Amino acid sequence: MDLLSIDYTYCMEEALGRRGGLSPYLLEAVRLPLEQVRKNLAEHRRGGGLAWMELPHRDPAELLAYAAGVRGRFDTLVVLGIGGSALGTTALATALLHPYHNMLPQAERLGAPRLFVVDNVDPDDIAGLFQYMDMRSTLVNVVSKSGSTAETMAAYLIVRRLFEQQVPADQVAQHLVFTTDPYSGVLRKIGRLDKVRLFEIPAGVGGRFSVLSSVGLLPAALLGIDVRGLLAGAAAMLARFEEADVVANPAYVYAALHFLEDTRFHRRTNVMMPYSNRLRDVAGWYRQLWAESLGKAVDRQGRTVHAGLTPIRALGATDQHSQAQLYAEGPDDKVVTFLRVKQFDQEVLIPALQDDDDPLAYLGGRSLGELLNTELDATAWSLARRKRPSLTIDLPRVDAPSLGQFFMLLEAATAVAGELYDINAFDQPGVELGKQATYALMGRPGFEDLAAEIRAGVVGGEGPQGDGPPREVTRYLVA
Ligand code: PA5
Repeated sequence: MDLLSIDYTYCMEEALGRRGGLSPYLLEAVRLPLEQVRKNLAEHRRGGGLAWMELPHRDPAELLAYAAGVRGRFDTLVVLGIGGSALGTTALATALLHPYHNMLPQAERLGAPRLFVVDNVDPDDIAGLFQYMDMRSTLVNVVSKSGSTAETMAAYLIVRRLFEQQVPADQVAQHLVFTTDPYSGVLRKIGRLDKVRLFEIPAGVGGRFSVLSSVGLLPAALLGIDVRGLLAGAAAMLARFEEADVVANPAYVYAALHFLEDTRFHRRTNVMMPYSNRLRDVAGWYRQLWAESLGKAVDRQGRTVHAGLTPIRALGATDQHSQAQLYAEGPDDKVVTFLRVKQFDQEVLIPALQDDDDPLAYLGGRSLGELLNTELDATAWSLARRKRPSLTIDLPRVDAPSLGQFFMLLEAATAVAGELYDINAFDQPGVELGKQATYALMGRPGFEDLAAEIRAGVVGGEGPQGDGPPREVTRYLVA
């Protein structure tokens, strides 16, 4: 398997100067803390605390068998999920399916269904999607770890009603497949009651670390994506994570660079900029992983830290003409990660021109892949020239083994960064509070007190997380 690599030349002082670049001594000095991180993570893992690291070694036979069993039966697959229950599937589909998969004639899709991922409750979008959908040839995968998230459950109820209207009652269950917690949640209960096929998200695997579980792998299998290749790629990255020297290891180096850029230079905005349309949603997946994992009010000692690095997604070369000016000359608070594809699947040649004096002659006879990668090099260089740091992750190709490596690299880097910041990278109390407020305002039983507080205009008290005695506030409005 060709391995993914990271070039961080443009983070170093040799390129950026001492005032904005990292010295090799600093990287060497971080070896000790990283060794400690390695010990801590190994201990968490032994205690069962990093269940997502075991995913590459799980046998996908069951979900592959299910996918083979329904192959050719459904023309459309709809995935209902949000956050970590949707972003991985979107990333996988954009990267590994034909770029215009949904437009391909059925025969060209080789039995794979069209795919729609519903990860919002926008009424116009949902009404528009289902307006022309033939539910008789549609399979819906409802994905929710908790089995209760309001957006996903609302979409499920809508879809169920549509099935009841268009499909004989005794066949509705065959059009549904649920992916949820192995022990709890409303979705699991409904699934068992209605005899819907259930796939489990292994205990301890949180949403944003679940792409290599049935959350991402079941849709992948249904779409004919190389699931075993993904897992092999992830296993290869995991092996590097376990074995290589910490300062020669992609995940440790990725985390350490971002930690040092923050703590030395206050660069807390992290741009991920793939130079590949097929990787654009991989940047969306990373954005959630990095944001939700590292954005924390308190550290593990209970101290208020408000840690966090703000991830931004961009797309090269498109956003060179939208964002690059800001990255080059705006606040020096960013680290850009470029994603480069070493070998594109398609080679598209720009027609050569007869006349060498034609001002466009320099483009003729070159390939689009060459142009795109040259633009990446040019942008990285021009940032470095302005003393702005960047690193480049090289993916051998956009294929399943490379994607598997990439997912595991960023998940492992997130875990390392969590240790460096001494925060819990695996919870999301801020998201949970928003979920509870939605339940309360929508009248879910058990949340009456919270609903009353919100309606009375009560917000948190003066404590760092809005704790302390709650207080009422005046509503300011411009109408
Ligand atoms: O990463 C996370 O934990 C979240 O983004 C969840 O995936 C998201 O809130 C959806 O939750 P659930 O899968 O329980 O419906």
